[in-house]
Amino acid sequence: MRLLITAGPTREPIDPVRFLSNRSSGKMGYALAEAALEAGHAVVLISGPVSLPPPAGVTLVRVETARQMFEAVETHLSGCDAAIFSAAVADYRPAQVAAEKIKKNTDTLTLELERTEDILGSARSKFGFRGFLVGFAAETQNLVEHAQDKLERKQCDMIVANDVSQAGIGFDSAENEVTLCLPGGRKILVPRQSKTALARELIARITQLATPTAPKSK
Ligand code: PMT
Repeated sequence: MRLLITAGPTREPIDPVRFLSNRSSGKMGYALAEAALEAGHAVVLISGPVSLPPPAGVTLVRVETARQMFEAVETHLSGCDAAIFSAAVADYRPAQVAAEKIKKNTDTLTLELERTEDILGSARSKFGFRGFLVGFAAETQNLVEHAQDKLERKQCDMIVANDVSQAGIGFDSAENEVTLCLPGGRKILVPRQSKTALARELIARITQLATPTAPKSK
């Protein structure tokens, strides 16, 4: 299969030297890319700024902002059999980007934020993607409820629900534990393990679900 994977954070500029971002390290997305390559798939990895080396054999597209990630996904999605959106994309960006470094000459500073492009939500509705669509959901409460809602609203085939309130998993950690939410209310717990091992399991399940004729794993 040909897979598109998004990974890492986005950076939304405030002025020439500052930005809004989050704690995503890219480890989960890069582990997925590595596991997909190991499984024999071709991979386009669309990555926000991270300090990880790209897996050998991947087609790497580097981006900074949510808008750039949106445009890169739009460009590369057609022809892919499956897409996995593991990136932590900013939901909001500064409405105005200051041309010069903002000076600290007031006691408070208010930034007006505007919504960024909803990349996962655009896959079916704007880009017309018909392959196997996997979103992530990073939640600190009501994990499965929010994930099931996302599954339906964004017309996904799977949501990987990630409880990011738990220490040692989720953002910028070596390990992860997730619940896979599937249509019909089906849920599968993938227990805590290294992101490398978890990525292998996810890719095996996605391969099986995306290609109905593939041999069933145990
Ligand atoms: O990078 P690591 O340090 O290894 O951490 C991994 C991770 C915690 C970032 C990863 O496992 C994870 O949970 N990724 C999703 C993070 C996130 O931003 O979730 P969300 O619930 O805000 O977004 C839901 C889905 O919509 C995600 O698939 C996201 O990529 C996508 N999205 C979000 C906002 C936006 N503007 N466009 C999007 O496509």
